[in-house]
Amino acid sequence: MHDIESGVSKHYASYDVLARIRAGIAEMGHDRDRISPEVLKPVDEFHIGGAEATTALLEKLAIRSDMEVLDIGSGIGGPARVIASRYGCHVTGVDLTLHFVETARALSAMCGMADRVRFEVGSAVALPLPDASFDLSLLLHVGMNIPDKEALFREARRVLRDGGTFAAYEVMRTGDGDLAFPVPWAETPDLSALETPQTYRAAANATGFSLGMEENRQGIALDFFARLQAQATGGTPPPLGLHNLMGPTVKEKVTNMIAPVQAGTITPVQMIFST
Ligand SMILES: C[S@@+](CC[C@H](N)C(=O)[O-])C[C@H]1O[C@@H](n2cnc3c(N)ncnc32)[C@H](O)[C@@H]1O
Repeated sequence: MHDIESGVSKHYASYDVLARIRAGIAEMGHDRDRISPEVLKPVDEFHIGGAEATTALLEKLAIRSDMEVLDIGSGIGGPARVIASRYGCHVTGVDLTLHFVETARALSAMCGMADRVRFEVGSAVALPLPDASFDLSLLLHVGMNIPDKEALFREARRVLRDGGTFAAYEVMRTGDGDLAFPVPWAETPDLSALETPQTYRAAANATGFSLGMEENRQGIALDFFARLQAQATGGTPPPLGLHNLMGPTVKEKVTNMIAPVQAGTITPVQMIFST
């Protein structure tokens, strides 16, 4: 395992996420063994903009049912389930964090989707997958924990077929200034590996990708934060939400993320590459 990886996986595995989600589902009055993937949307899209940001990215990708899709850093499986249910294709997710992989599998079984999505434990810089086996790969808010961006892109390229697409939606450094910690992706600075759009472009360029589209997503982020803050001032948090994934320091994590996005120090950026 690479140096940072054990700390990163400990960071994400610190709270019993599956038990919290099960409790939330029960509180909402749903049958825990048969739920619609839609019920999980407030909690299973662990990135700025949530389900709305995923949809905006997917709409740019011309996904077909015969495509093999890979989600790198698949978390608890929300984006993978959306792709499989919306487009009818088979999706593989790989994630470093065993507890997230187990949660992704359990939630997919609860949604009756275990035959359409599969989740494996593994590192984005050493994917446990054969060469040239996917048509489309996604990376949603994962590179912030991976210092070696070129290794990340090299692996993404290795597992893609010629003509394949790599779509990234990542928090990137877009201005000067220190970050305060914790943030949602790192309890402490040593777990954070934010990089600039230029670094992402250079890594892509060095590994055989060409950039087709790039979009700054600060607008969607600010709308999303306004909704989060309205929810936070409304008193008790809803049974299912991203707070289920962030433990007792959720308020600090969210505050420490919102301020630098508002200041333009960090920004979610969408990039779509072709091979
Ligand atoms: C903020 S979450 C995003 C999860 C998911 N992509 C989503 O949008 O819902 C970051 C995820 O990246 C995973 N991750 C971080 N570093 C990784 C690495 N080197 N290889 C694979 N997964 C990694 C973490 O375990 C975590 O599940």
